[in-house]
Amino acid sequence: MRHSLNRVCLWLCAFVLWSMMGHALNESLHICSESHEDRRLYIGDKPRSAYAQLPVIYFVTPTYPRREQIPELTRLAYTLLHVPRLHWLVANDREGCDTFLDAQINGFGIPYTHMASPMPSEFRKAKPAPRGVANRRAALQWLHQHNLTNGVLYFGDDDNTYDLRLFSEIRHTQRVSMFPVGLIAEYAISGPVVREGKVVAFLDSWVAGRRWPVDMAGFAVSLSYMAQYPNVNMPYKPGYEEDLFLRSIGLHIDQIEPRGNNCTEILVWHTQTKNKKSAVVRLENRYMDERSNLGALFRLLEQMGVARASESEGLVATISKNGKSKSHAYFLS
Ligand code: UGA
Ligand code: MN
Repeated sequence: MRHSLNRVCLWLCAFVLWSMMGHALNESLHICSESHEDRRLYIGDKPRSAYAQLPVIYFVTPTYPRREQIPELTRLAYTLLHVPRLHWLVANDREGCDTFLDAQINGFGIPYTHMASPMPSEFRKAKPAPRGVANRRAALQWLHQHNLTNGVLYFGDDDNTYDLRLFSEIRHTQRVSMFPVGLIAEYAISGPVVREGKVVAFLDSWVAGRRWPVDMAGFAVSLSYMAQYPNVNMPYKPGYEEDLFLRSIGLHIDQIEPRGNNCTEILVWHTQTKNKKSAVVRLENRYMDERSNLGALFRLLEQMGVARASESEGLVATISKNGKSKSHAYFLS
């Protein structure tokens, strides 16, 4: 009797612990393509070989299909092209692989893994929805599956702005490094308060009981440190992702390594891009051929999710010359 009670208690405790930690990492994760080869000829002004000994930065970018996706990822890629020893984990919030995106990412020559990791449908309707969580969880799962215990993890959203000095600052993170993020909420800044080289508190306008009131872009974690915490997690809890993730790796305030000249510099900005619905432009199908550039142009825009041409919907395309618009037939037939 006593024995079975103990067992019940054990199961109960395990269950309570499990619910506290959130679900174990078990995301829908589909690898679209990846490359571990660095095909960039030069990084900065040095040949690739000059960097061979640096710890790898695993830069995790959640992204999702929308009109701004390709421009955001293009801008980000042109930043990352300058960064040596970096593996870019691009986790796309959709079912199945986007072959257009695949080709784009591959073309940059940066070592990468492109995966499809959709937000579970039950969260999609939630307001606010847990943005970028399924993708980051999938990336955590990928890191776990590859047994990576060397290098540094950084969560870099697709719409932020990164100073190249950020990468040298986080590269040698021992456990967890932290630094200010510009353009966060009401204060337009979020980050640690540092005294005598130690993090003693946090400045952030939204505390809400968070032990770690920091932005996702405001910290980096060493993989050797993270490997000691098998229950590493990021729950589907909007607003609390950073806090609960950092709690799941048993962080203590005195372990935090302040970066960016003791948190006096801003090396990352929480820029946000205005979102708009993808455009529909009214243009006759018969002109979407090789007589002009428009067919190819709109086919490309459609693959990018930016705009599409339609015969029956959308604003009629105005095509003009010398300040005067004419019928489509005038220029295109
Ligand atoms: C802020 C924080 O900076 C994010 O780190 C945090 O994930 C987010 O709030 C949140 O908790 O909701 P914010 O600029 O408000 O970020 O959010 P977004 O930039 O719209 O989304 C964060 C990331 O998730 C982006 O990389 C975005 O591409 C991705 N995302 C967004 C998805 O993968 N799916 C979505 O449906 C929306
Ligand atoms: Mn953002």
